[in-house]
Amino acid sequence: MKHSILDNRPELSSAILQIAETAGYLWEKGWAERNGGNITVNITEYVDEQMKALPAISQTRAIGAFLPHLKGCWFYCKGTQKRMRDLARDPMANGSIIRITDDCAHYEIVADQAVAPTSELPSHLSVHDYLLGKGSPYRASLHTHPIELVAMTHCRKFMEKDVATKLLWSMIPETKAFCPRGLGMVPYLMPGGVELAEATIRTIDEDYDVVMWEKHGVFAIDTDIMSAFDQIDVLNKAAQIYIAGKNMGFEPEGMSEAQMKDLSETFGLPK
Ligand code: 13P
Ligand code: ZN
Repeated sequence: MKHSILDNRPELSSAILQIAETAGYLWEKGWAERNGGNITVNITEYVDEQMKALPAISQTRAIGAFLPHLKGCWFYCKGTQKRMRDLARDPMANGSIIRITDDCAHYEIVADQAVAPTSELPSHLSVHDYLLGKGSPYRASLHTHPIELVAMTHCRKFMEKDVATKLLWSMIPETKAFCPRGLGMVPYLMPGGVELAEATIRTIDEDYDVVMWEKHGVFAIDTDIMSAFDQIDVLNKAAQIYIAGKNMGFEPEGMSEAQMKDLSETFGLPK
């Protein structure tokens, strides 16, 4: 067996295994064509002193933004151009661990292989910076291309604030129960850019855990990667139910306002 940074680090290994498992689900769902989608997880809490002393295996590279709350932070990142289905099998060959340098504007790779991180790193790291700044317990962010949710963003009406949220919540009670903040909308912007990162944070700041990138994909945050996946999964399931109704030739009725209100009260869901 080849030596790995995960050796003798059971907590770190289990966090990475959870990422690999999630990557497999993304592929099985049909949401991860080719290299589509990316994952980053803040793994700082699993990094011991010995790991902190390890040398970088890459040059120091610019993030493209100054992110003050990321000082001393460590992340697992999917590699750019790497496939989720490959990551599921071998997370350390299709992703890497990076540490943020003390100037909060650069990173270096400290991992088994110098796999360059995802092209969506500006969005992911800016969001992690925002979350830490707020004292949030969220440590994981997930971007993926779920078919039905992306299809909905091709319709003007669904891009209006909370139109899609209300529709999706009303398809099946679990949607609001497990994605209680709904679905924020970000108008189309170039993938991988700082503008997309800024728009994503603005939308998350309106109190969404899941945001749609118009005609592209979805970006979700949660405490861990499996929970971020679950929020997208329940939303996309609701979209599939809506589409199934439309395909049967009718406009799905949806739960009533009274039923939605009752659900929110019973589950104590956020306003
Ligand atoms: P990466 O392969 O760079 O992670 O890009 C995939 C993607 O979905 C871009 O939005
Ligand atoms: Zn994408």
